[in-house]
Amino acid sequence: MSSTYHAIYAQWKDDPETFWDGAAQEIDWFSPYERAFQPDQGVYGRWFAGGKTNTCFNCLDRHVEGGRAEQAALIYDSPITDSKKTYSYGALLTEVKALAAVLQDLGVEKGDRVIIYMPMIAETPMAMLACARLGAVHSVVFGGFAGHELATRIDDAKPKLIVAASCGVEPNRVVAYKPMLDEAIELAEHKPEKCLVFQRPQCQAELRKDRDVDMGAAMQTARDAGRDVPCTPVDATDPLYILYTSGTTGQPKGVVRDNGGHMVALNWSMNAIYGVKPGEVFWAASDVGWVVGHSYIVYAPLLHGNTTIVFEGKPVGTPDAGTFWRVISEYGVVALFTAPTAFRAIKKEDPQGAMIEQYDLASLRTLFLAGERADPDTIEWARAKLAVPVIDHWWQTETGWTIAGNPVGLGALPVKLGSPTVAMPGYDIQVLDDAGHPVDRGTLGNIVVRLPMPPGNLPTLWNAEQRFRDAYLNEFPGYYKTADAGYMDEDGYLFIMARTDDIINVAGHRLSTGAMEEVIAYHPDVAECAVIGISDRLKGQIPAGFLVLNAGVERQDSEIEKEVVQLVRDQIGPVAAFKLALTVERLPKTRSGKILRGTMQKIADGESWKMPATIDDAVILDEISDVLQGRGLMDR
Ligand code: COA
Ligand code: AMP
Repeated sequence: MSSTYHAIYAQWKDDPETFWDGAAQEIDWFSPYERAFQPDQGVYGRWFAGGKTNTCFNCLDRHVEGGRAEQAALIYDSPITDSKKTYSYGALLTEVKALAAVLQDLGVEKGDRVIIYMPMIAETPMAMLACARLGAVHSVVFGGFAGHELATRIDDAKPKLIVAASCGVEPNRVVAYKPMLDEAIELAEHKPEKCLVFQRPQCQAELRKDRDVDMGAAMQTARDAGRDVPCTPVDATDPLYILYTSGTTGQPKGVVRDNGGHMVALNWSMNAIYGVKPGEVFWAASDVGWVVGHSYIVYAPLLHGNTTIVFEGKPVGTPDAGTFWRVISEYGVVALFTAPTAFRAIKKEDPQGAMIEQYDLASLRTLFLAGERADPDTIEWARAKLAVPVIDHWWQTETGWTIAGNPVGLGALPVKLGSPTVAMPGYDIQVLDDAGHPVDRGTLGNIVVRLPMPPGNLPTLWNAEQRFRDAYLNEFPGYYKTADAGYMDEDGYLFIMARTDDIINVAGHRLSTGAMEEVIAYHPDVAECAVIGISDRLKGQIPAGFLVLNAGVERQDSEIEKEVVQLVRDQIGPVAAFKLALTVERLPKTRSGKILRGTMQKIADGESWKMPATIDDAVILDEISDVLQGRGLMDR
């Protein structure tokens, strides 16, 4: 099939409002919007303002009413706990209504925030959808974050209630959530009124009588009573959720997602970008704590009438490197979406792909990769072993869906290894130099998107409009700054090369080195520190922290390094994967005192580097190099 991409992109560019108005016809509105785009509303305009709708209605009720009641909506598959369960659209709606009734009884109303601190179980999407049903705003916090990170989010979102599970299950341990939840509430200034706790058999939490409610029991009561909770009409521009993502400080950014534009864009993407038809099985092997999980485990597949899979396991070790293939063959998955790191993990365990041979993967049409740069090696391996097209696509928590990709449903374009392909309709991508001038094709620069952002993108940051402007809009007036650097070639293919801020990408997880530095600075023996991301074969990048100790500290360096590693694990969480702390005499700096993190990273990665003209004392770079050598880190 020859691609219609260029024609469709031109159609969008010619008249964006008509384009998105067309896509919006696929969504059920309780009352219509006046015009698709209102340029005078919000920070850069708002999509579908005035329209009334409900995201849960569009995900569940309309499909049940429209003949999908018996179709599988959600499959929970957990090799880690050895359990499986399939929910039809009808059954999922029953569960969501029961949970919405419980939330309502606990006082949750339209506009209230609800934090969800849950692992990859079916009850997590249920909680998200129950909030959406009531017009409440959920904020899911990834289970790999520790109490302190949860506390920061509690203070920012000020939830009326928290929904939590008693535990998560990792391959090597059961992670009790309740003690972290209690600690977070203790630490936070804002105190939620209630906690709804889902008890898992792997670890029962102790409930506090004055605050905690047993979610399973409360849902059972609501179910038995046949409670019917209608969908609360919300404005298209009302927030559906807040998802916190790493910023350049320890204070995470609360990315806001609205209801109307989000539904329109995600629903459109399922066919156009992923080439999936309603009724088919779509699997995003990610975590609901991340944006990929929000968009492509929960909302997009359900909006589009697909079957989605909530997979509680890892690509390897649960029980082996064949687990992805087992899931694909068992449920007839047509499209798999995951991070390249998952494939690197599989390839490491099963380099020949022998386990792939053991399963019938005939249903699989396409593999989609995102979350980090897809290295050509991984793409080629996956393509050869799976014998399906492997599609890289680039997006961010802020955008909620693809900025640049290869739209399979419109007819795939030729793949260029190392490139996520081209701008999707909705995005006018430009590459600018630091002064804001367009650079030539093939020249590296700041990747920006011309305003307005398309439907589904963040309209602002939660309670932080000035920060939204400062972080994204002010540096390049008229554009959204992606904070990714790269270039566009003559064919309009984009190449994403690096972040322009302190964000690193560890196993597809977005982390701030600045946030880690803030935590490390608390250690009483540390005078100053610098955390950089160094390359790692499996995870893409891992953090490495360089510590300068206070004068006169007499304890062993190794003892302090261990404490620093533990501090980051306790404060940010195991997901930071912070295991490398290195004591150095001094940090390399410019004459104005800026730490030369970029040069340190190049040295650590064995890349060529130039001596910065402004360096204060060049010898320090040799010292850094020696420490890395001494730890055997130069031959990774
Ligand atoms: N709850 C509690 N702890 C968690 C967690 C969770 N939800 N998720 C991860 N962790 C812990 C891990 O157990 C690990 O702890 P450890 O230091 O005790 O071993 C630590 O956080 C680091 O996790 P991770 O970086 O995921 O490493 P891993 O070695 O456990 O697994 C991969 C490596 C590549 C298999 C894994 O990262 C993976 O499957 N990635 C897929 C990518 C993905 O889902 N990306 C999301 C965006 S698409
Ligand atoms: P997150 O907000 O967690 O989705 O992380 C977004 C960041 O991950 C982007 O700004 C990029 O730096 C990186 N990223 C995501 N997808 C890709 C991709 N396909 N290629 C290169 N980098 C990517």
